[in-house]
Amino acid sequence: MLNIVLFGPPGAGKGTQSKKLVADFNLVHLSTGDMLRAERKSGSELGQRVSAIIDAGELVSDEIVIELIATRLDNNADAAGFIFDGFPRTIAQAEALDRLLSEKDTSISCMISLKVPEEELVTRLLQRGRKDDNEETIRNRVGVYQEETLPVAGYYQKQAKLNEIDGVGTVEEIAQRVATVLKAYA
Ligand code: AP5
Ligand code: MG
Repeated sequence: MLNIVLFGPPGAGKGTQSKKLVADFNLVHLSTGDMLRAERKSGSELGQRVSAIIDAGELVSDEIVIELIATRLDNNADAAGFIFDGFPRTIAQAEALDRLLSEKDTSISCMISLKVPEEELVTRLLQRGRKDDNEETIRNRVGVYQEETLPVAGYYQKQAKLNEIDGVGTVEEIAQRVATVLKAYA
């Protein structure tokens, strides 16, 4: 299996590059942000609980996102591999993911970390205009990323699975850089 953690700050292009990888490598895309927004849209009790947290750019609890991922792993038992987008965002999530995958006799193949300067992130996200893409929430999301999520890169570095990529350029150029890294793992 090819199991990729696609990592990077808000607006780095995780969702954009995931779409290309799904098409090129036949992987299942698991974005906890997309799942949480779908819960909110459905009006579920979970969706109502997380709504204000997403709008503030804070992290939803580890328990909630780990449960969402565990369910998707069970529901896609025949997958050729997974792209984890926006997950894991804490060391506890990374450890839980390792456990869940080892129960299925598989593991993370590599992390791809997209490096993009903060001002470029803000410009991209203000243009996109999702509900949490206002200047205040973006700055908070970037701060939360730096304080709570960046250590996750170190977690994979210790396992010699970290690959950093320049995330500035056209979508195609970045897809090429990602593909070059993945050749070593596929
Ligand atoms: P999440 O949905 O994961 O958002 P995020 O990490 O803030 O990242 P984005 O989705 O905004 O950016 P992206 O990297 O996917 O970039 P994209 O491809 O869209 O999380 C949202 C919230 O949910 C969190 O704040 C938290 O509350 C909660 N949450 C989610 N997961 C969680 C977890 N595991 N634990 C706890 N809480 C969790 O690109 C951005 C824009 O740039 C687009 O408009 C795109 O078209 C454009 N773009 C892309 N590539 C390029 C390029 N190369 N050049 C120019 N523009 C580009
Ligand atoms: Mg995204």
